[in-house]
Amino acid sequence: PRPIVLDVDTGTDDALALLYAVGSPGLDLRGVSCVAGNAGLEQVVDNTLKVLDVAGAHGVPVAAGATKPLIERMRPEGLFHGEDGLAGVQLPPTTRTPTAESAVELLRDQILASEEPVTLVSLAPMTNVAMLLTLHPDVAARLERLVFMGGSASQGNVTAVAEFNVWQDPEAATCVVESGLPVTMYGLDVFNRLLIPQPVADRWTQDPRPVVRAAGELLHRRGTRAAGFEQDYVGVLGDAGALVILTHPELFTTVPLPVRVNLSGIGRGQTIVDQRPDAQDQEALDRDPWPVIDVALDLDVDAAAAAFIE
Ligand code: BDR
Ligand code: CA
Repeated sequence: PRPIVLDVDTGTDDALALLYAVGSPGLDLRGVSCVAGNAGLEQVVDNTLKVLDVAGAHGVPVAAGATKPLIERMRPEGLFHGEDGLAGVQLPPTTRTPTAESAVELLRDQILASEEPVTLVSLAPMTNVAMLLTLHPDVAARLERLVFMGGSASQGNVTAVAEFNVWQDPEAATCVVESGLPVTMYGLDVFNRLLIPQPVADRWTQDPRPVVRAAGELLHRRGTRAAGFEQDYVGVLGDAGALVILTHPELFTTVPLPVRVNLSGIGRGQTIVDQRPDAQDQEALDRDPWPVIDVALDLDVDAAAAAFIE
């Protein structure tokens, strides 16, 4: 299995991603760092511990990180997942506490301690990740890849052009996009299209196993909160798709493209993805070199959903 560390702002869909990270035989979850986003930091840490507990992953260390973006204040749009971040899904209280080391330290230690290169997956505003790359540049050589859920090559969700995770901390997203590492952007172009069939979620909510019931309830909350989808589906799977692309890359179309984060004015928080056919001509790149990252643009929806369900 591929060693991974996860940075989360749990979140109904971060919760589903945590369950997939624990349950997938293709992934070896080494640690989870938390950042404020879908809820305040304390709530995110508590949600993350409770989700890992229900999955039986009591040994996976969880650390607390940034309470706010690098520069700006937190903005309340994160409350899309309800006050508690889990849209009211009730899980047993945790018996664990987060590690004494901070998110950045946990990420650094897990990445440096691994014999195999580690994949860092960010499902949240990228504040912790930006600090990691800035304070500990030595981790770069030990990273296999950095995958982030965030951005869009088309429209946004918080503004006309900006996706929440990038919009909440655009400077941090810039650090990631311009890091020079192998980076995959799992943006709204694919995020919004990976739907789980309603009968699956219905069946899971009746399952005797608490972890499966939790997954069913989380999916239902996403269903009731995401209007306008075909009746046969609950809402978008969301963050967990950024792990499905790791375990099943063949189900996605990913294209290396020049990307930059817009830091100014009404477009702040937008990922500008240059899809002009000649944008990567050597001459164009010499004139104005943009970082080139792998952008997920398309997927086999049914097969990706089946991979998650399995
Ligand atoms: C992203 O924002 C959060 O609401 C979700 O957890 C996801 O990471 C989608 O824009
Ligand atoms: Ca998230």
